[in-house]
Amino acid sequence: MKAALITGITGQDGAYLARLLLNKGYKVYGLIARRSTDTTWRLDYLNIKNEVDLIEGDMTDLSSLIRALNFSKPTEVYNLAAQSFVGTSWEQPVLTANVTAVGVVNLLEAIRLTNPAIRFYQASTSEMFGLIQEPMQSESTPFYPRSPYGVAKLYGHWITVNYRESFGMHTSSGILFNHESPLRGIEFVTRKVTDAAARIKSGLQSELRLGNIDAKRDWGFAGDYVEAMWLMTQQEVGDDYVVATGKTTTVREMCDIAFSYLDLDYQDYVVIDPKFYRPAEVEVLLGDPTKAITKLNWEPETSLNDLVRMMVDADLQRVKQEVSLVAGV
Ligand code: NAP
Ligand code: GDD
Repeated sequence: MKAALITGITGQDGAYLARLLLNKGYKVYGLIARRSTDTTWRLDYLNIKNEVDLIEGDMTDLSSLIRALNFSKPTEVYNLAAQSFVGTSWEQPVLTANVTAVGVVNLLEAIRLTNPAIRFYQASTSEMFGLIQEPMQSESTPFYPRSPYGVAKLYGHWITVNYRESFGMHTSSGILFNHESPLRGIEFVTRKVTDAAARIKSGLQSELRLGNIDAKRDWGFAGDYVEAMWLMTQQEVGDDYVVATGKTTTVREMCDIAFSYLDLDYQDYVVIDPKFYRPAEVEVLLGDPTKAITKLNWEPETSLNDLVRMMVDADLQRVKQEVSLVAGV
């Protein structure tokens, strides 16, 4: 039986990837960081909490990573753990570097010391393109990160490439563009918008405060993107792949999709609040997934319209549950 260790299993992608690997018959282990409150709601949401084995550990603690590998004996490791919110990376740049950059080399070293034959996936990001150097970004586009998060991820990307070239390890870097789902953290713009639309429709909220709504992103569905992660570790050799839809949309247009689905006009509710502007913005991202499509035989399956509607439906459902809980029914 194949075994996989997923770091960041309590995050959006970790939960979807765990479900995918369970469906493929893997024994799934997840590294879980010690927190004062329960962080497993996404595993509950997908009904897989009892099917995965959680091992306590932290990306900043090399000894815990070695212990996790010794215990789980995985054939594949997926490194999804990160301080992943771009906005927070200006407030906590050192923590972001420790977890999102140094954490990667900690894990690669732990693998090299325990079993260098393990296949490794690194969650790299379109944020590394930042101030874009080409209108459509591919594996050969030069990087220009614009946030402490993007800079940290760039280290993670290159150390992944370096361990492949230095030690012949099977390491892959998935340069994933933004991907969303009903399991997206509430701080990210898509979920903030779909949650607000659901609350406004239900009479629980009156406005939505946003920053730069002219920013453009290449948004896909997380459920589709975890399939690409798995496909990378199944190849004969590790490599780097851009995973994207090849379409870009403004935050403004995304708001329109969400609100008009509920027969609302976003312009009646969205208030621009400079508090949400970033010190250095990534204005536009647009990925070229040709290599993933041709070499991995991967394809994005969910349109942005369907994705946003799926998220709005899930948020409406949550709001309903919240209201009935408060009402005691
Ligand atoms: P997410 O929901 O923010 O999940 C991040 C995960 O990392 C959580 O499970 C979190 O645990 C864990 N983590 C944070 N600090 C840790 C530490 N010190 N030790 C161990 N675990 C720690 O992120 P996501 O959206 O699923 O993204 C998954 C990965 O892909 C991240 O590396 C992200 O940077 C990258 N990525 C995401 C996107 C996207 O659009 N979603 C695009 C490109 C790349 P807690 O639950 O305890 O906080
Ligand atoms: N979060 C947030 N909140 N973003 C806002 C807001 C707001 O109120 N208003 C406008 N935006 C804009 C941001 O300035 C940014 O240009 C865009 O919406 C998307 O922001 P996020 O949803 O926070 O995502 P991100 O693109 O910064 O980062 C996400 O995608 C990266 C891949 O490109 C994260 O998932 C990263 O971890 C990931 O690497």
